[in-house]
Amino acid sequence: MTARIIDGNALAAEVRDQIARDASALATQGVQPCLAVVLVGDNPASAVYVRNKVSACERAGIRSLRFDYPQDVDPDRVMDKLAELNADPAVHGILVQLPLPPQFDEAAVLEAIDVGKDVDGFHAESVGRLSQNRDTFIPCTPHGVMKMLESIDVQVEGAEAVVIGRSNIVGKPMAMLLTNAGATVTVTHSRTRDLAFHTRRADILVVAIGRPRFVSADMIKPGAIVIDVGMNRVPDGPDAGKLCGDVDYAAAREVAGAITPVPGGVGPMTITMLLQNTLISAQRALAAKRGGA
Ligand code: GUN
Repeated sequence: MTARIIDGNALAAEVRDQIARDASALATQGVQPCLAVVLVGDNPASAVYVRNKVSACERAGIRSLRFDYPQDVDPDRVMDKLAELNADPAVHGILVQLPLPPQFDEAAVLEAIDVGKDVDGFHAESVGRLSQNRDTFIPCTPHGVMKMLESIDVQVEGAEAVVIGRSNIVGKPMAMLLTNAGATVTVTHSRTRDLAFHTRRADILVVAIGRPRFVSADMIKPGAIVIDVGMNRVPDGPDAGKLCGDVDYAAAREVAGAITPVPGGVGPMTITMLLQNTLISAQRALAAKRGGA
């Protein structure tokens, strides 16, 4: 079998077109959606992510504000900025790029963001609401994965879903979304004994472990849907330095029923869902303005 390729670029372009139309409609009603992005320190990967987020905003007609701080900044300065952005009615979404330098209490920073502007969905209240299957901002990467599953009409309800990775950013919210959608979910990670035993049972396998080409073809059930959240550089061999995912793509394609490529898979959908959350927050701001007028 050769797997169906789930094209994240094409799906993202479709969703972003709609977001751009909705953003432009909002602007004509006096509300331009606006995302504030805070970047602390000199992590090169974070700098690339932030640049991509800001340029995606521009292309979708969403205003972006960017605040850069040095690695050794006093956390109070960042907290003061967050308070200012929370109070600014022209700002609809606030994002603090992670990871933060060691002098920061990450949970305290995330909870300092107004939950109504928490477009990353990392605030403890947003996480709690997601776990209760209530309306909330959904973390962008797992939300993008759910959209990809929807785009190929995967039956999630009743499916065996296995997630590799237990991070707050991807693995845990991914497990909650799949659970909310009716899948039977197993969360595995780097300490799981006999990982392949679990992955071979998966109808839907989501991989977010951060190791290049970690999942081999023999770990995949024939016909499974394989979603690769990884973004790594090939460490050695003829492809050294090229981008690759957490799945051995060339081999997995011959076994899976459908698979996401890297690059061009989950990555573009992550930013798309961030734009969508910002748009939703701006739409709520307009509704509140009208309701209060
Ligand atoms: N670091 C890695 N992924 C993300 C993300 O989706 N949002 C933020 N804020 N930081 C990240």
